[in-house]
Amino acid sequence: MIQKSIFFSEILGFIKVFLLLHVLFYMERKEPILFKVYPNLKNKVPWISLLTNIPTPIDRLTALEEKFELKGGEIYIKRDDKDHNIYGGNKLRKFEFIFGDAVKKKKKGMASIGGIGTNHGLACAIVTKDLGLKCHLFLFPQPLTWHVQCSLLLYDHFGAKLHLSKGFLGLTLKSLLFQITHPKYYLMLPGGTPLFGLGTSLGTVGFINAFFELNDQIKKNEVPKPDVIFVAGGSTGTAAGLMAGCKLLGLEIKFMIVAVGADFIANVSTIIKNANKAIKYLREFDSTIPDVNVTEDDFELIEGFLGSEYGIKTIRSQDAVDTTNQLEGKKRDFKLETTYTGKVMAALFNYLEKEDNKSKKVMFWNTYNSNDLASYLKETHFNWKKLPKKFHKFYENTHFQCWEVKNCPEKDRDKCHAYLNHEYRCWLVNKCSREKRNDCKAFKDLSNIIKLEDA
Ligand SMILES: Cc1ncc(COP(=O)(O)O)c(C=O)c1O
Repeated sequence: MIQKSIFFSEILGFIKVFLLLHVLFYMERKEPILFKVYPNLKNKVPWISLLTNIPTPIDRLTALEEKFELKGGEIYIKRDDKDHNIYGGNKLRKFEFIFGDAVKKKKKGMASIGGIGTNHGLACAIVTKDLGLKCHLFLFPQPLTWHVQCSLLLYDHFGAKLHLSKGFLGLTLKSLLFQITHPKYYLMLPGGTPLFGLGTSLGTVGFINAFFELNDQIKKNEVPKPDVIFVAGGSTGTAAGLMAGCKLLGLEIKFMIVAVGADFIANVSTIIKNANKAIKYLREFDSTIPDVNVTEDDFELIEGFLGSEYGIKTIRSQDAVDTTNQLEGKKRDFKLETTYTGKVMAALFNYLEKEDNKSKKVMFWNTYNSNDLASYLKETHFNWKKLPKKFHKFYENTHFQCWEVKNCPEKDRDKCHAYLNHEYRCWLVNKCSREKRNDCKAFKDLSNIIKLEDA
């Protein structure tokens, strides 16, 4: 009997050690690779663990390679869309460092700024809720889409308090005033990136770390070194961080940064400043980090895909979204959208049409979440009247969905393919082909509501 209990306690002890080692191994694995390369940074640069699935995988987009009849060229996608179990995309890579700072400073909440469809704001609402912090979002109008309508409902669902202003400037002042009167809140600038040289580089550091992750994958032969990387340039922190990481590691890769935001932010000089500010920040803690600078020669800022303003849907972006989703997204479980990733993909399509580029190894850095948020959206019951009154105008008389366009009776809505799914476009639900969509009544009805710009 005694022997038996000794046996069991030994087994129990063994299991405990095993579990502890497993947890330690897992924590170690998730620690930024940047800290492993430069251990001096470890206790100096703030960081908390948020990403659940890193390193993010890299897929080869063979159907697109065929479509563009590449001659030796290859197309890869970096799947940051899956870097977190609830909300993937580029935000949480930045947040590991920015929230690390907020937690270290014992802040009780985050305040952030963005358009009414801000993905940054949604990520902020989700992460603050998870960490038991509060979230205030200062929002400015952008072209109204189904994505915007869903986002507003989701911010509220995840507990964020919403504030609306007419323009970007008024909003910035309002949020600054909020910070002065609420010092226990941490103010994140739009996209978590320095603005006009002010603000923390910690978000950019998240993408220096992301490039170190890619470098590791290249070294392990999981992917060949790309000749070019296509990425969105909004607040520019993502692109600036990737380029800074690439420069620190001395790899030769050309960055194609597709401008998706206003040019007073997404411009050559801001990108260079943000990249070099982040390198300088890290060098303050470790002087062995190379004293290098990102220059104009490291990238091309691709303009002409934005449309007339931030957030507008353009024909080329929508077509790139539809083509990619159809050829690759469905089988690999990712989706693009029209504000950021669709514009980047449209620029990549344009690049691959040129004969000289058909032999290039190209990487598309996916910055948009691809986890399904429909279950959260269903929990909101689409009850927009719950939002602060100022936001009601974004719902009254504006119907984006098939079931609304077609006037489906409320009781049948959830049988509709399009219910709570904005990417499933009306004409697809109605089985109209893309080529003949102009003859399709559903497409006409929808395009009367959603402005598709010829850009
Ligand atoms: C999906 C997506 N991609 C790209 C970006 C742009 O990233 P950045 O602001 O770092 O340039 C954003 C910013 O909000 C985004 O939501």
